[in-house]
Amino acid sequence: MTAASLVARCAHGLESALSAEILHRGLGVITHLGHREIHFRSRGPGAVAPRTADDVFLLAGRRPDPGTARRDVASLARLAVEADLDTLTELRRGHGGPAGVAGIEVSASFLGGRNFNRYDVEDAVGSVLARRLGVGYHSRRTGEAPPPGHTGWRVTLDGVWATLMLRIGERPLHRRCYKRRTVPGTLHPPLAAAMARMAGIRPGHTVLDPCCGAGTLLAEAGEQAPRAVLYGFDLALSAVRAARENTAGLGVVVGRADAGRLPLADGSVDRVLSNPPWGGQVTALGLLAASPSRWWAELRRVLAPDGTAVVLLPGLDELPLGLRHGLVPVHVQGVRVSGAQTFLVRLTAPTRRRRTRA
Ligand SMILES: C[S@@+](CC[C@H](N)C(=O)[O-])C[C@H]1O[C@@H](n2cnc3c(N)ncnc32)[C@H](O)[C@@H]1O
Repeated sequence: MTAASLVARCAHGLESALSAEILHRGLGVITHLGHREIHFRSRGPGAVAPRTADDVFLLAGRRPDPGTARRDVASLARLAVEADLDTLTELRRGHGGPAGVAGIEVSASFLGGRNFNRYDVEDAVGSVLARRLGVGYHSRRTGEAPPPGHTGWRVTLDGVWATLMLRIGERPLHRRCYKRRTVPGTLHPPLAAAMARMAGIRPGHTVLDPCCGAGTLLAEAGEQAPRAVLYGFDLALSAVRAARENTAGLGVVVGRADAGRLPLADGSVDRVLSNPPWGGQVTALGLLAASPSRWWAELRRVLAPDGTAVVLLPGLDELPLGLRHGLVPVHVQGVRVSGAQTFLVRLTAPTRRRRTRA
């Protein structure tokens, strides 16, 4: 078995984090950086599962984008006719995917307005793939989820190319086995993985999520840096329970506490990872309900000199609060997840603590 042409897909804004992870972990050689996708060549057989990716696919074929007319959708069936299915099946298994194909499901997306819908594209390609492989095709047109074990194919139309891809794994990479429980506002695991990577956690570091929810950031930090010391707090009991269950076995200390008054000593934390309860699905409780600035004050108090915080915020209007507490933004990046615009910010604490007057 040889190297394969792969496509890793990600949330918009995480393209650079995903590229860096592919290069850093030696997963392959990057050939193209696109909108929400990175193309790369694997180095040979072996599992390829970047944690900052939503999913990884084998590149199965490309044709020019057929354009906007409904009558041209049928031409996309050529992608399915021309795909080298034997080689793809072998490459999939060699890169950590399952052997065998129980059925076919296709998920399509396109950029720009079209006179057809995604189901027209999916059915045009899926019915031919299923016929060639001698298995059933599950159309998503019905709204029903595909039965387990169906092989996932993806079609994207970007205005220039129509691309056919075959998912390597049995299920999308962003669905993590550890995430047995969830809470409102819980993080998309690849975004949590990108935040943990951005924090540069080293062995022995103490890492804190003061509003840990279901513990996604701590679980990703624990996977990346198994020798770090991990603490998570939340004021909601349901979140504490969820985080305990999701991080079981990773040695994370999870407790109930108010992020406005953390049970940790001054300067005792090397890295903070957090998406605080502002904006949207979650409301601030306890001390933070009256004063979000207490969150920043506590962050600054517990961070060690030169410590780093990586936070996800719904807007940038709060950064002056962080600055007032001596936290300096060194990297700001927009990330779009499930249609919502958010901002990933890395901040550093000053090298020395400010002297306080007696
Ligand atoms: C956006 S969620 C965090 C989601 C989490 N990162 C995850 O992946 O599941 C914000 C969390 O802050 C918690 N919270 C709200 N007010 C708090 C407070 N004063 N102290 C600690 N946690 C608080 C909420 O209960 C909620 O779980």
